[in-house]
Amino acid sequence: MEQKATNIYWHEGDIKKADRERQNNHRGACLWFTGLSGSGKSTLSVAVQNKLFERGVKTYILDGDNVRHGLNKDLGFSPEDRTENIRRIGEVAGLFVDAGVLVMTAFISPYREDRNKVRALMNDGDFVEVFVDCDLAVCEERDPKGLYKKARAGEIPQFTGISAPYEAPENAEMVINTSSASLDECVDQVIAHLESKGFLNINK
Ligand code: ADX
Repeated sequence: MEQKATNIYWHEGDIKKADRERQNNHRGACLWFTGLSGSGKSTLSVAVQNKLFERGVKTYILDGDNVRHGLNKDLGFSPEDRTENIRRIGEVAGLFVDAGVLVMTAFISPYREDRNKVRALMNDGDFVEVFVDCDLAVCEERDPKGLYKKARAGEIPQFTGISAPYEAPENAEMVINTSSASLDECVDQVIAHLESKGFLNINK
């Protein structure tokens, strides 16, 4: 994206990300959940957050449906708008990471290139892509918001999985299959990954 403003300068603070991480005793990072509507991104992120909160981890969730009520009110579901949606969220998530938070994002984020651009924005290892893998048929069966039914009836144009594409990640750090494992099992898989990769309890 083009830089519009001129005469602007980056100003560093005295407190760095590493200082915040030491204070928090966990890493600042972004857990980027991606998957079809109804795959379980929001449910999983909320359940993971509950577990982490109990352990004193500073977390925050940026969720598609919520963010589209405010920051991204002006965006729809055309390919360009989805790309801009993810770009803005990537920038916001980057700020949370810098603030030492374990931020989780729950957006369909259907385009591989858009997700990779967010990855490139962050330091190596700070972006953890979590593919919330769930067959379209299962998502459609769940249809928690009744949107697949509407999309099939032609009432929602460009609906992901029906009339708009979803590009599954090829090298996600984690693949969580929400149709073959229970919610608790899925949460445990995410937490186990964070533990084994050294995101938690860093002041040993
Ligand atoms: S994204 O594609 O730009 O990443 P985002 O996650 O923000 O999408 O929003 C997806 C949510 O918007 C869905 O869970 C659904 O509730 C709603 N929605 C409304 N219209 C569409 C559509 N055409 N395609 C996908 N989701 C839609």
